Amino acid sequence: MTQTIGIIGAGHLIRHMMPAMVKTGYRFIVSERGRATSEHLAGHYGAEIYTDNQAIVNEADIVILAVRPFDAVSVCEGLTFQPRQTVLSLCAGIGSGELGPAIEPGRLVMAMPVVAAQFGESPTLLYPDDEPCRHLLGPCGPVLALSSEADFGPASTIACYYGWVQELIGEMTGWVSDHGVDPDTARLLVAQMTRAAATTVRERPNDSIRALVDELATPRSFTLKGLEVLREADAFTPWKKAAAALFEKG
Ligand SMILES: NC(=O)c1ccc[n+]([C@@H]2O[C@H](COP(=O)([O-])OP(=O)(O)OC[C@H]3O[C@@H](n4cnc5c(N)ncnc54)[C@H](OP(=O)(O)O)[C@@H]3O)[C@@H](O)[C@H]2O)c1
Repeated sequence: MTQTIGIIGAGHLIRHMMPAMVKTGYRFIVSERGRATSEHLAGHYGAEIYTDNQAIVNEADIVILAVRPFDAVSVCEGLTFQPRQTVLSLCAGIGSGELGPAIEPGRLVMAMPVVAAQFGESPTLLYPDDEPCRHLLGPCGPVLALSSEADFGPASTIACYYGWVQELIGEMTGWVSDHGVDPDTARLLVAQMTRAAATTVRERPNDSIRALVDELATPRSFTLKGLEVLREADAFTPWKKAAAALFEKG
């Protein structure tokens, strides 16, 4: 059944989700603010631009909220929602305790995608599970429904890990190209090797990750030699510290 999807907050994230979400064939109406993006969405994906957020809410079956986190509650408090409506919040760090009252009697669903949605590769957290939202987000990548809101905070930090891994890819690409390898080749090599490692972990769920690493890091192997350098430098602890810093702040 065709649904009308209202979008409040046409910015960086929505620009990257729209190429995927448009595959649902739904109708999209989008807020005018962030004019460069709303015009892009209208021009490329046939989204209709509305100047009035309440008019978006009035027509939408699902309202996607994608303003900056610090604007989320105040934007919703100025709007009137209906019981039939789902508000799908993409706003990081804003839980139901804060946002729920502002969207009543609408129903709050939270999701956490990343911009790889553009390529259908965003693992997208969802809470609570909701079939229409799953259908809308499905083209963005695998939807991972959580069973409790308490899980949403720690799981959401992995949306930032997405950026941290890109930084690591940049560092290793630089190291390879500094040793004479063509920079484009180095970039594709490191990016694809990162993807290869991830694919193996995803496709072999019955093997522990420890077993997968041990399969490579055999005695006297180069993989083990490098891992020993990383472990000696305690290279993995800072990654967990970074996640903890976000989680504790959020
Ligand atoms: N970007 C990501 O990779 C990513 C990933 C996961 C989650 N998120 C979450 O997604 C949300 C959006 O992030 P973003 O990076 O896309 O931010 P963004 O680029 O700053 O986009 C936010 C948009 O909201 C618009 N806006 C602000 N107030 C509005 C209002 N009252 N009515 C209508 N539109 C309004 C802004 O317009 P103006 O420019 O005119 O102010 C801007 O176009 C955030 O809550 C963030 O936590 C982002």
